[in-house]
Amino acid sequence: MARITIIGGGVIGLSIAFECQRRGHNVTVVEAQQCGGQASGAAAGMLAPYSEIEEDPDDFFRLCQRSLQLFPKWQEEIKRHSDIDFEYNESGSLYCIYHEADRLSLETKQAWQRKFNVESTILSAEEVRVKEPGLSRDVVAALWCPEESHIYAPGYVAALLQACRNLGVHVIEYVGDATLDGYAVVTKQERIESDQVVLAAGAWSMYWEKELGCTLPVYPIRGQICAYEAPPLNHIVFTSQGYLVAKANGSVVAGASEDIADFDTNVTEHGIGRLEKWSKKVMPVLEKMDPFHKWAGLRPATQDGFPLIGKLIKKPGVILATGHYRNGILLSPITAKIVADEIDQVPQQIAIGQFRPDRFQAI
Ligand code: GLY
Repeated sequence: MARITIIGGGVIGLSIAFECQRRGHNVTVVEAQQCGGQASGAAAGMLAPYSEIEEDPDDFFRLCQRSLQLFPKWQEEIKRHSDIDFEYNESGSLYCIYHEADRLSLETKQAWQRKFNVESTILSAEEVRVKEPGLSRDVVAALWCPEESHIYAPGYVAALLQACRNLGVHVIEYVGDATLDGYAVVTKQERIESDQVVLAAGAWSMYWEKELGCTLPVYPIRGQICAYEAPPLNHIVFTSQGYLVAKANGSVVAGASEDIADFDTNVTEHGIGRLEKWSKKVMPVLEKMDPFHKWAGLRPATQDGFPLIGKLIKKPGVILATGHYRNGILLSPITAKIVADEIDQVPQQIAIGQFRPDRFQAI
């Protein structure tokens, strides 16, 4: 049994804490502010790698796909251990196009994803209307991915936190700054001796560069998002410009911008204005509506777009689990499994070499 201290109480830190504690370790989570108070709680909760990943398959695609496959059982376990129900909707998705010229890109996406047994169908305009009558008549076709789903992120994070507490994880919030002394995590209040330290601080991970003596090119990219009180959609709806997703609380969420604003989580007129303009074109009923809620979160982006997951070669008592960018919610179960397997020295069943946290060091 190892003493594990996790720095960061977002969805990644809490998922790792849950997995490690239930495997018999003694876990402490140290959170600078409130658990789930940043990007994790702000997310739209998309579990949609087939729509969101444009590139050809690589280890990152496989990582996302594996995590999507883990979700049905994973979310049940979180519900069971927390005794909190939260929305998990296996809605499927529609990736809509407005121009015949874009059909080829749908076909290309479908062709390479088929090699990975991804189920999808290209629907005609009429078929899209049957599935989703509220969408614009300008949609000419859509790629239907029935396996994609979504989750209510604030509910998921609250349940994860409760599940951790119920299992006996020691969660310390509002610690402010912390430092590392050997493998002890030192806060203003206490010194937490650890066998293993996990850095899961999302967009704030770069502040640990000096402590860890390594280059951590993780940057905050703001995602602005808004929600309408609107009739529900049956699927997650994507276009090349964004996504719409209906939640069980009666909201339709429109996301999301990508802009650089340092650590500013305010929304801007420009950011939300673009989303409004776009969403009204996709779903005409929104035309006469104003969003009732607007917010933003900071996604942890990395220099090469891939997360940092694994042990630091020069400091093997430290494992990094950060830089999940647009996919933190989706990648939470697989990241928890990978980190727990590293700690338990169980061989990885999935290629993680591309995510080595030391890959940015000068040689
Ligand atoms: N994965 C959705 C977003 O980052 O906006």
